[in-house]
This record gives sequence, structure tokens and C-alpha cells, in this order.
Amino acid sequence: MATGLPAGVTVETPGRSGQAGVPVRQGETFYLETFGCQMNDHDSEKVAGVLLARGYRQVENPEAAKVILYNTCSIREKAAQKVFSRLGELRPVGDAERRWMEERELGLRKADLEIGAPGEEESEQRAGRVKTRRLQSTGKIIGVLGCVAQQEGEGIFERAPWVSLVCGSASYRKLPQLIAELEAGNRRVTGLDTDTDETFETEITRRDNPFRAYLTIIEGCDKACSYCVVPFTRGPERSRASGSILQEVRQLADAGYSEVQLLGQTVNSYADPSVTNMRFSELLTAVAEVPGIRRVRFTTSHPRDFGKDIVEAIDAHPTICDHVHLPVQSGATAVLRAMTRTYSREEYLEKIALMKAAKRPISITTDIIVGFPGETEKDFEETLSLLDEVQYDSVFAFKYSPRPNTPSLKMPDAIPEDEKGRRLAILMDRQREIQRLQNEKLVGETFEVLVDGKSRRENQWSGHTSSNRIMNFTSPEQELLGDYVQVKVTSALPNSLVGEMVGR
Ligand code: 5AD
Ligand code: SF4
Repeated sequence: MATGLPAGVTVETPGRSGQAGVPVRQGETFYLETFGCQMNDHDSEKVAGVLLARGYRQVENPEAAKVILYNTCSIREKAAQKVFSRLGELRPVGDAERRWMEERELGLRKADLEIGAPGEEESEQRAGRVKTRRLQSTGKIIGVLGCVAQQEGEGIFERAPWVSLVCGSASYRKLPQLIAELEAGNRRVTGLDTDTDETFETEITRRDNPFRAYLTIIEGCDKACSYCVVPFTRGPERSRASGSILQEVRQLADAGYSEVQLLGQTVNSYADPSVTNMRFSELLTAVAEVPGIRRVRFTTSHPRDFGKDIVEAIDAHPTICDHVHLPVQSGATAVLRAMTRTYSREEYLEKIALMKAAKRPISITTDIIVGFPGETEKDFEETLSLLDEVQYDSVFAFKYSPRPNTPSLKMPDAIPEDEKGRRLAILMDRQREIQRLQNEKLVGETFEVLVDGKSRRENQWSGHTSSNRIMNFTSPEQELLGDYVQVKVTSALPNSLVGEMVGR
């Protein structure tokens, strides 16, 4: 073999996925930790699938792994920081430091706790945690994947020189090749192109959720909201051919999955690149009609591309779940304009009206950012009044976090952190009350629930309704996991329903 690969590495005959010349590593171990959104969760399922197919074995802790991968999120600063603190824990321990740590463990040097990465501020409490977490990472391959990888690029090698692989989501097809290059002796490899028109399709996805199968139908984002890193970290929109999506859905149904969730940062901006040229609502319908599929979900929808045809598809096909996640971000048109959201409060409310006019109730959830630069008290109150008007079933609310490369980074009139915190708390209180009242109205109704959890307490089960509400319920049945059952609501909490099984 003239590949210059180390001993023990063999070259696989190209399979259908055509990774010619990429080595198989029988029994080599990897650890993969995922931060962030469902897109990342699903990307990790695909990464794991690709590595497992090459003979790797997944392990539950980094100590036991040869390859350590972090699939990262940079949507808000806190998420990105978490990754660097994880990487700090992997900094190789030098001889002098190892001696020092051993002494410290013997209680000889209690005063000096400075063991963090250079330049990193360490509190005493954190240093203590690092001591227990730090591991011997010499000889391991450490890789950073996902949004932080794309955003920081080779800068990660400077901040954490023990990292040898940096790869953004638009380059995951190259991952096996990149790992092979490291094993062949390269010190550092990167996959950072975003100008690919490919999506990360793989036949071998290791699915973590046995009840809900995720499927990416569109990658990247072209929307350019002024606060958001996604267009930089995930690149431009690329849709997957409808034929390939439907083929995967049929395979999932054959494998026993009855619920699929179509994923995309702006899932309803789907544009079929094949001659079939399906609209998003037509794709939804086609997926819903695959034999064996009982539930179709989709997230996240962008208000600009949300039309009546989607509501009509939901109405016509009970298999399409009665839940739409439609991020609004703010209730004030002035803020929406500064965010470049491409709609006004009134235009957003027109989309809500489409859903409220549907034949069956549609559960609506949203994302909101508080404290965007220039957001006045009056703007914030408009967001609160939007909550009252829409009556969301759930809200994910965030303090605005300034992000690198984004246009809003340079906007004037930043809102102080404590004021953002105040607004967030007010908003969450208001929404909690709305949800409590909304959920109380459901007491006495019966819903179909896909059972996906069993409590340690006897006869206690949990699952999700089509509207994606969590239902905790009682049933004396012995085995229900994966079943669809009828549950009558007996009481309600702001974030979940409580009920009893009344039939199948
Ligand atoms: N600051 C705070 N929240 C953000 N989001 C995206 N970018 C930022 C940011 N810079 C939120 C939006 C988006 C959700 C996934 O994350 O609400 O819909
Ligand atoms: Fe970010 Fe806006 Fe794209 Fe959503 S639509 S991923 S918020 S740029």
C-alpha cells in the first residue's frame, strides 16, 4: 500500500458512498460530544455513522478514546465559551505540571491553584473541577467540528495547540479523509470551505433517538439576520433532492421509525434541486404519505417563506403534526427591521392568522431575543403584547449576544447585561402564565401520545403529543415504549400535561 499509512491501517474498497482510499480502523475508539441545536445533534449522528462504518467504536468518555471530537455551537457567546473550557480540560499535562499536580493532590501546595490554560482566568472552584477533569490527552486526536470550528478556523490551533482537526459542517463529507491524513502523520488538518453546493448525505447514520428520526433537508442559511452567525458558520442554503429524501424516509419506515422530523435552519425555504421541483408543502405531503410514517415534524420555519400551502398540507394530512415553530425574535417592527428579519409585526401576525384559521388547532412555538441593540422599553412591551396576542405554546427566549462577523456587532445603543436579564425574566414570567392557562384548557381532552419514556416510578410513562407537548401519564401496561396510545389529560403544568391512558 503506497499511502504512507501507519501499520494496522487498511484501505477499504470504495463502497456506495465512494470514499476510495479511506482507511478502516477496526476497533479504534472515538468520543463525540455535541453542543447546540438539533441540526448539530443530527450532524453528530451522521459523523458517528461514518466513523462506525469505518470500524471505529464509540466510547462514553474522552479518557477511553483515541479520537475526541466536539461538535460545537457558536450561536451565543456562552455556547462558544463552553467549548474552549472543554478544550482547556484536554491540554496535555507537561512533566513539571504533572509533578506539581501530584504534589497538590498530596496537599503540599494548597495556595497556588493556577493550573488553567495560559491566559485563562481560573476561579478556585473551577480549578478544582479542572483537576478532576484534566486528562492525559497526549497521543490522542482532538478535533473541533461545527460552528466554532467554522468561525474560529485555524485560530483554534493557536488557542489550543493540542487540537489537530478543525472542520465545519459544510466539509463533513471530508471527515474520514481528514482523520486518515492525521493518522498518516499530518500534524494539523482543516475542512473549512463553505462554498460547497453539497449536502452531507450519508447512508450510515447512527440514530440516537429510537422514536424520532431526524433528516436534514436543507443546510445553511441565506437569510442574513443581523445578529446571527449561522450564515457564516453553515454557509449558503443547499437543499437535498426530494427523491433522496423520500428514499431515506422509506428506509426509515422499513427500519421501524414512524416519526420523522425534517430539519433545516430555514426548513420551509426548501428548494428541490431535482427536476421534480417539489415545493416544501408538497414534500411534506409526500413524506406524510410514505407507508408506515405516522408523524411528520419540521423545524425551523422562517416567517418569510411560511405560506397558506403549509397550513393546507397540515389540514389535509393528520400525519403532519399540528405544531409549527415560527421564530419571531421581536414584537416590534423597528427591532425586526434592525434585525433584518424581512417582515413586520403585522406581516408576522398574518402568518399566525393562517394557522389560527386551520381546521385543527395548530400549536405554535417561537424564539425571542431580548435586549437587541436599540431595543427600547416600548419595543420590549410590544414583544410582551405579541405573546398575549399569539398565545404561544412554548417560547425559547435569549438575551442578545454580540457575535463575531455579524452586522449587529457594531450597532449603537447596546443594552446593559442586567437590563437584558430583567427583560428576559419578565418575558419568561409572562409566558409561563400564558402556558399554564393554555394547558389548563386541555384538561379533560384526549390526545394520541407516542410513548418515548418510562419513569422509575411504577406505572408512570411519558411521551409527546402531535403538538409536541410532553405528556406524563399512568398506565398499568407492561410495555409501551414506541407505542401510540390515547391519553386523557387530568391536570396541567406550564411545560407539560399529566394524564391517564384510556386506550390504544
Ligand atoms: N444572540 C441571542 N440569540 C440568538 N439567536 C441567534 N443568534 C443569537 C444571538 N446573537 C437565537 C435566535 C434563533 C435561535 C436559534 O437562537 O432566537 O432563532
Ligand atoms: Fe440565523 Fe436568521 Fe438564518 Fe435563522 S434565519 S439561521 S436566525 S440568519
